Amino acid sequence: MESTTVSPRAVAGGTKSAASPRAAQARPAISGPRWLPWAKGAVFVAAWYPLARIVLFGMTDRLGANPIEFITRSTGLWTLVFLCITLAVTPLRRMTGWSVLIRFRRMLGLYAFFYAVLHFTTYVWFDKWFDVAAMLKDVGKRPFITVGFAAFVLLIPLAITSTRAMARKLGRRWQTLHRLVYAIGVLAILHFWWMRSGKHDLVLPKLYGAIMVALLGWRIGAWLIARLKARTAVRS
Ligand code: HEM
Repeated sequence: MESTTVSPRAVAGGTKSAASPRAAQARPAISGPRWLPWAKGAVFVAAWYPLARIVLFGMTDRLGANPIEFITRSTGLWTLVFLCITLAVTPLRRMTGWSVLIRFRRMLGLYAFFYAVLHFTTYVWFDKWFDVAAMLKDVGKRPFITVGFAAFVLLIPLAITSTRAMARKLGRRWQTLHRLVYAIGVLAILHFWWMRSGKHDLVLPKLYGAIMVALLGWRIGAWLIARLKARTAVRS
């Protein structure tokens, strides 16, 4: 498989591959396999499926007895799905050696944010009609909403700084900031688990919890191995 010429480090401001200071300031080359634009186009279109499904169900009267609940749950679940897929990109890239996968990560992360915005908007607008008192009363009864809100707030800086220009501007701080995604993953599972525990239905939270533990565990394992290797190299 052909590989891309952009490494995450390069996107995050690294300039190791630049031949001159002038080249270091230039935009990193963004070439890739010829099929990449098509594959990205296909992912871009496929990611609209959850919203298209809601619209279709709405038009054909299939949103159930409580359409707002249906939309809140559907957008919440798809936010979590996109979060998991985004977090899976790096482990998959390392395991398969397909560096081109990194070229999909930003788009997937932005779709996670997009569905989070729809989820939040459905709750604040269509469920509570911007009634702050009603929302506070609801949060008092269902504290899991606060945890979801925290996850959403943390997603905002990641979405804002997701552009290549921001990554270059922030340099190493970009990587540090984007580690927030792990906290978001944990908060999202907690939000889901807490909500479903009230309904004594933990099948899906357990499934997504296991996926999240595997994804975060892989990261921690990779980090520990890298540290061990670095220490051994220094000693020897
Ligand atoms: C990253 C952010 C978030 C994620 C990943 C997320 C995820 C989820 C998931 C997976 C569900 C359960 C869906 C199901 O039962 O199938 C859910 C439900 C819910 N979420 Fe979120 N959520 C997030 C943020 C928020 C925010 C910001 C709010 C509101 C301020 C919110 C309010 C709710 C409510 C009210 C429900 C329950 C709906 C019901 O009782 O039917 N969530 N969320």
